[in-house]
Amino acid sequence: MNRKPVIAIDGYSSTGKSSISKKIARELGIVHLDTGALYRGITLFAIKNCTDSNGKISSEKLVSQLKDINLEFRNEGGELVLYLNGENVSAEIRTVSVADQVSFVAKQPEVREFLLQKQRDMAREGGIIMDGRDIGTVVLPDADFKFFLTASIDERTRRRHTELLSMNQSTDFESVKENLIVRDKTDSEREISPLRQAEDAILIDNTNLSKDETAQKILEVVRGKKL
Ligand code: DC
Repeated sequence: MNRKPVIAIDGYSSTGKSSISKKIARELGIVHLDTGALYRGITLFAIKNCTDSNGKISSEKLVSQLKDINLEFRNEGGELVLYLNGENVSAEIRTVSVADQVSFVAKQPEVREFLLQKQRDMAREGGIIMDGRDIGTVVLPDADFKFFLTASIDERTRRRHTELLSMNQSTDFESVKENLIVRDKTDSEREISPLRQAEDAILIDNTNLSKDETAQKILEVVRGKKL
């Protein structure tokens, strides 16, 4: 009998990783875990509880309070919804303020360590597609399939801008572009688990592909290999 696959999807911000992964999970009957949501959840906690007198996140305060953070995904009608200390934060983690600060939080070694085991535990049973930045390189180096998504900066900005407008968050094209550029730079240059393509990952540039077309490309590869 075929076992259910473990799939790692990494790539740049706003390449559609999460929605594409969700589609694939549905097609294959496996679980989807958006690991960026975990980093965003910790960032939201830090904004609320760990700022210094200038209103900036203090990494010392955050590290000392990591033990007070309980992040869990609850299955609500087939959707995994993120709860932070018992509160549904799935909308709040998508705000501009969280996006602006998440890369700073994600580069703290203690934060990455805190989330590493959590992510591996969730993949232990197999049958999972996990999307993030370091899944194929660090979190699940033995994944059955690894993909790395990229797209042009203007196309990624257009997608993110449209998403923010649909959430009634007022912002302009240039600031969205700036956030993506800065975030990708911080994510790629950090010392621990930087964003990079695993040597054995398949690269997909989806600048000119829809989410469905990207998902189909990935599904072709996954269905073509017997596990
Ligand atoms: O996928 P996303 O845009 O929601 O991720 C938010 C941030 O979290 C991203 O800028 C970098 C960080 N992240 C990470 O460092 N490692 C992961 N596996 C996932 C996300």
